[in-house]
Amino acid sequence: MNPPQQTFLRDAMRTLRMTRESFALRLGCTKRALDTWLLPDESKEFRAMPEVARKFITEILANARGVAVSAAAAHHGLTQDETVPNKEFGVLSHLLSVDQFSRESADALCALADAMQPVARRRKTCRVLEGAVLANLFFEASTRTRLSFASAFNRLGGSVSDTTGFTYSSMAKGESIHDTSRTVSGYADVMVVRHPDQGSVRQFAAATNIPVINGGDGAGEHPTQALIDLYTVQQEFSRLGKLIDGAHIAIVGDLKYGRTTHSLIKLLSLYKRMRFSLVSPPSLEMPEEICHLIAQRGHNVDVSHSLSEAITEADVLYTTRIQKERFTGEAVPEFLSSYEINKKRVNELCRPDIVVLHPLPRDSRDGAFDLNTDLDGDSRLAIFRQTDNGVPIRMAIFATLLGVDGLVQRSLRDANWAVPLTLGPDDIIIEPVG
Ligand code: NCD
Repeated sequence: MNPPQQTFLRDAMRTLRMTRESFALRLGCTKRALDTWLLPDESKEFRAMPEVARKFITEILANARGVAVSAAAAHHGLTQDETVPNKEFGVLSHLLSVDQFSRESADALCALADAMQPVARRRKTCRVLEGAVLANLFFEASTRTRLSFASAFNRLGGSVSDTTGFTYSSMAKGESIHDTSRTVSGYADVMVVRHPDQGSVRQFAAATNIPVINGGDGAGEHPTQALIDLYTVQQEFSRLGKLIDGAHIAIVGDLKYGRTTHSLIKLLSLYKRMRFSLVSPPSLEMPEEICHLIAQRGHNVDVSHSLSEAITEADVLYTTRIQKERFTGEAVPEFLSSYEINKKRVNELCRPDIVVLHPLPRDSRDGAFDLNTDLDGDSRLAIFRQTDNGVPIRMAIFATLLGVDGLVQRSLRDANWAVPLTLGPDDIIIEPVG
């Protein structure tokens, strides 16, 4: 027999070490709703908890308990899942999931990124992290994430130590995540970790008191990319006179394994009255629990396998690469060409003010049918404004985690070296920020 809902909820919060606030955030409901579920049955304000909420919590608990049971084994392995509860993003916190953000804290981070723009755009220099060391630990391929984290840290005056791939780290000798993480803590002030196993970055976090930033954990999350995407949408919308509240966002491609899409949709769901059109080949749909969370937050979600209808009214078209390297037995989908975003389709199907985004890399090989290069140089394509935004957003993240955000303004000095007016030959000049 099920325990009464109040006991069940209290027990869940205790097990997960979560406050009512963070637990409500995790469930995607308001704190007020959670409060009413916790009241005694006889109270006038008491509400019965929906059955789906009980199921969702049961799943979260099953994961968390699995972790506790496997804790000793995980000390030497890679399979442990959640070990560190989500804590609000702030000084010396880890950054593991977008679930750590409220709309206010995400907006505040974007505002701090604006303040970083003169440095990111090489007009000013800043030394607030002089003497600090970043450990960039990348156990999976990366260009943008690794280099923009390094650039962000360097531009704040800090230095970077790197390790790339398993081959050149002691993990190749069987060292555990725990030992690796604790060791690196003695050498660096903050760690960025990318790893192929979902939940593994949380294990790094469990073994250290220096901030750990999730640079992508398997098919799990990529929270800093989602913050970059949010910031880019804000910038593009401010140029176009639009607001995120009420926007229609089409997300296209591999929504099952594309971790950037998981983080982005959760982050955008902090805004109001969103409409999401999720378009993927069959068998690569967005995980159900994420769709469920978004719907629970009161947004409109439609799932389809066909591009045409889904994108006609969209304000943003976010397209992604098929993540074949993560497939576990799935066949490469047929008719991939029907998901390709190219100039003809954008001209024929989309609003004239569409913003086209992609977390990159795009797969430009024949037969991949990823975002076509024929849109390059078109003002609707914001992909390189998006990659450029990796630097100010990641600077803002470091400044917040290391508690120097208040020192940035007075540390700014003029930069003296030559920089081109635009960074790429196809770049259009858009409204400058900062
Ligand atoms: C993505 C990633 O690694 O998740 N890229 C990125 O970090 N900007 C997307 C991908 O690999 O397709």
